[in-house]
Amino acid sequence: MLTKMNPMALPVVERLRGLKAHWEGKTIAGEFEADGERFERLHIALPGMLFDYSKQRVDAEVMKALVEWARTAGVAEARDAQFAGEAINETEGRAVLHAALRGEAEDGFQVGGVPVMPDVLAVRERMLQFADAVRADGGITDVVNIGIGGSDLGPEMVVRALRRSCSGPRVHFVSNVDGAHLESVLNGLDPATTLFIVVSKTFTTQETMTNALAARRWVADAQGDEAVGRHFAAVSSNVPLAAEFGISEERVFGFSDWVGGRYSLWGPVGLAIAVAAGSASFRELLRGARDMDRHFQEAPLESNAPVIAALLGCWNVNFWGFSSHAVLCYAQDLSRFAAYLQQADMESNGKSIGRDGTRVDHATGPVVWGEAGTNGQHAFYQLLHQGTAVHPADLIAFKAPLSSSEDHHRKLLANAIAQAEAFMKGKSRSEVESGMRAQGKTEEEIARVAPHRVFEGNRPTSFFLFDALTPHAVGQLIALHEHRIFVQGVLWNILSFDQWGVELGKELASSVLKDLEGGQMARHDASTTALIQACTPLR
Ligand code: F6P
Repeated sequence: MLTKMNPMALPVVERLRGLKAHWEGKTIAGEFEADGERFERLHIALPGMLFDYSKQRVDAEVMKALVEWARTAGVAEARDAQFAGEAINETEGRAVLHAALRGEAEDGFQVGGVPVMPDVLAVRERMLQFADAVRADGGITDVVNIGIGGSDLGPEMVVRALRRSCSGPRVHFVSNVDGAHLESVLNGLDPATTLFIVVSKTFTTQETMTNALAARRWVADAQGDEAVGRHFAAVSSNVPLAAEFGISEERVFGFSDWVGGRYSLWGPVGLAIAVAAGSASFRELLRGARDMDRHFQEAPLESNAPVIAALLGCWNVNFWGFSSHAVLCYAQDLSRFAAYLQQADMESNGKSIGRDGTRVDHATGPVVWGEAGTNGQHAFYQLLHQGTAVHPADLIAFKAPLSSSEDHHRKLLANAIAQAEAFMKGKSRSEVESGMRAQGKTEEEIARVAPHRVFEGNRPTSFFLFDALTPHAVGQLIALHEHRIFVQGVLWNILSFDQWGVELGKELASSVLKDLEGGQMARHDASTTALIQACTPLR
């Protein structure tokens, strides 16, 4: 059980407040000028990955205090409790052991004293054999993953990220209950050569079941009822419900309730990834994540990438008051990474009740958002550079070309590196004025326009530079964030592994659905009633 002590009340937090006040007179660029060793001090190099946080508003003293905070807050103990299979998901009474899904036999993970690896490995082998068989068969040209949230975002993001390793059938994703999503995917597919994977931890999610039933009708109408079994597979921790849907046992892949939906892509939920990229790439993905797990468990706190990333995030949220966090991937193939991370982060740490059951009085999870670079540069970077609020950002880039064009890649990298520099350096009034003078502008125009062309700079960023966008790197990247999110939950004294905040909307949607279907109108406020009536003009 995690301690109920509030890490925000530790004495070191007061010291950090003082250090922040002291930092207000400084700039990141100024710190680089004052300290020739700054980059050396403020980066972590791991195999295939560089994490440069020297462009954050920190220095050696701040980092020392932040690490002391992690130490006194019991981050290492909490991490060990997670890996020991303790029921740290307290409100649901469950362990949190997604690390076991990428584990090996010698890792010896246990839940409640029961070893879990034999079962995990058996399901992994069965699922990978199924994936490779679908790839080898040739009779299936298209695979449609039907799921939502964690049963969609992770697999979809990874399939896109591994585009260059994908050689299997085309893999599509349907999540939205808006029928347009299913319709647009099915358009152009042949029921005779399409396989559906219904992915739902609970196998009760309205969107997924609605889409799955519609897909089943689509197959049955074209191929007959008896064809349904050949065209469906299911992934769930509710195996009996999956079987009830009519999917035969050997095509149902189960997982345990100690795997949270948003942390589940490493097991059978990743079936679509394995079908698209093959079992060898899937195993590489797991290896990358497991390497990050080892690093998280073994590296000292001060050189532990997930811990440092977590501390920097809290430093920006709680001490500087920055309420959002931008994720800027300089890789088109990572175009769904921000969407994936939104669920992983905001569904985990978007909480306001502490572990002792009372409301916390500090900020928790920031709004996570982002878009692939360079596209974002031509959309919202204006606000990042010159808006009144500061939005810290992670930039993610890859040394090896992401396409067959080295020219494209050099330009992509140049933009990523230059943006991080620009966020930090900014451009002073005198630099702007002398530039305008050199362009022959009049003094009147310089006085009028120069203020608009000034960049304050001093905008904090971290830069994650990977050798290449390989399955291993994707595994490392995702696992780094999973652990970073967990550490932040510990520091914020909240429970990161439940998601009660999604329930109310589900309850009310089912009540409104009854109203729309023509049942007796439930009692609502005037606005809600008017909206329901506007959508049911015949009632
Ligand atoms: O509504 C939120 C949620 O429960 C997520 O946590 C989960 O990833 C998603 O719905 C889908 O749930 P399931 O896999 O059970 O269909």
